[in-house]
Formats: sequence, C-alpha cells, structure tokens
Amino acid sequence: MQSKANIKGHPLHPILIVFPVAFFTGTLFFDCWGAFSDHAPYFDTAYHLQVLGIFTALVAAVPGFIDYLRVVPPESSAKKRATSHGLLNIGMTIMFSIACIYRQSLNAHITVLLLLETAGFACMAIAGWMGGTLVYRNQIAVHNLYAEAGKWKEELIDTPGKSFVVAASGELKVNQLKLVIINGKRIAIGKTAEGYVAFDDHCSHKGGSLADGAMICGTVQCPWHGSQFSVTTGAVKAGPAKEAIPVYPVSEHDGKVYVTLE
Ligand code: FES
Repeated sequence: MQSKANIKGHPLHPILIVFPVAFFTGTLFFDCWGAFSDHAPYFDTAYHLQVLGIFTALVAAVPGFIDYLRVVPPESSAKKRATSHGLLNIGMTIMFSIACIYRQSLNAHITVLLLLETAGFACMAIAGWMGGTLVYRNQIAVHNLYAEAGKWKEELIDTPGKSFVVAASGELKVNQLKLVIINGKRIAIGKTAEGYVAFDDHCSHKGGSLADGAMICGTVQCPWHGSQFSVTTGAVKAGPAKEAIPVYPVSEHDGKVYVTLE
C-alpha cells in the first residue's frame, strides 16, 4: 500500500532512517575507538554524531508515524509489528539522548556510556529488522500494482446512514479495486465482469489489506500470504485463511454505485 508521506511516490521514512542509523553506529564506533585508544578527539566526533543522530531520528519519525496511522492496516499482524518497531525506535532515541547528556557530566564513566549506547544500538538493530519485515513481507509503503489494477484509489466517507455512494458507475475498470473508509470501516470496492462488489478490507488470516491485493475472475488474493476469497460470497477459495470475509450488498443506479452497511 502506497505511503502517505512520500515525494512523487517515493516513501520518506525509508529514505530518512539511513541518517540516524549511520550517525548512531558512528557514535558507538568512535566512543569504542576513543576508549581503546585513549584519544580524546574521537569522543568529540562521537558526541557530534550523537547529536546529529538524535535530530535525524526525530525527523525520520514524522513520516513513519504518518504511515503508521494511515497506511498500516488496523487490527493486523503488521500493526502489532509496527507498534513494536515504533516503541523500539523511541527506546533507541531515549538511550542515545541519555548517553548524550550523561557524557557531559564530569563524573561520566566510559563503561556506563558504552552500555547506554549499546542498549540503544540493540533497539535500533531489532527495530530495523522489524522495519524490513514491514516493507518486504507486509509491503507497507510499497506501491503494489498488478496488471489492470490502475492507480491506487482511496476515499473517505464521514456521513451517517446505512447506504453510501462509493463510486461513480464508470469509475473502475473490470478487476480494479478501490478502498473506501466509511465512518472508520474499511471496505474494498471492486468491479467484476458481472458488476460491482463490496467486501471487508481485512483478510481473515492476519489482517492484510484486500484492497491492496489482486482481483481477477471474481477472486481476490491477499498480498501478504496469498489467501484467496470469493468477492461475491466471501468464501475462502485458498488458505492459509480459514474464515470467510464479510461481503456487502451493492446496487447501481443513476450513474452511482451504492453500498449498504447494516
Ligand atoms: S494476512 Fe495472511 S493471507 Fe492475508
């Protein structure tokens, strides 16, 4: 699913995280080098890298938080992973910030400083591993297009009622999908050769976004582990999912497509 914090489709968070990773790694490296060589200028270099690391970590957190709120599917395995990823990055920033303050004290001991930085580095390494899983497995911030998918479409509807206009009749081509968030509920709208369909944007396996999947011949495939569902009945056609997904009544008249939610 495409990042919401991007420049011409390029997600900002993965671009920015290389800076704190490099600066914090350099901090630990130069502090270790300073400790072993007893050469004071290395500590100065480590300090400057540390300040830069803290600043760039805070900057990188902004697009990451935007994507956490608006891109990671709610109630999914990726949301839990993204929460842990964010908390570890906060832990990393706190550890390096404490170390940065501590090193300025007259009684600072190099062993304590290195322990704080090693703890921060460990948080960063685990958070980085999880970030990789979020991108390469959960495809967060990946613009995932298949043949005939067209451009990613998303619409927010915040009006009371049971029946909602979710598309214009000619808006989608056959096998195209669109995400509509109706009063907080995520519904995937698709067009099949027989007409429009609507179903939950939530794979019953681990919560993958089905609007970000591939739909063909009346079947939608989840992008995370490949479960397949009938878009008309919601029945599972192929696992690992075991439970059907909810589908919703759709009608089309006066050039508009309506979905009814009970
Ligand atoms: S989340 Fe695993 S197949 Fe959809």
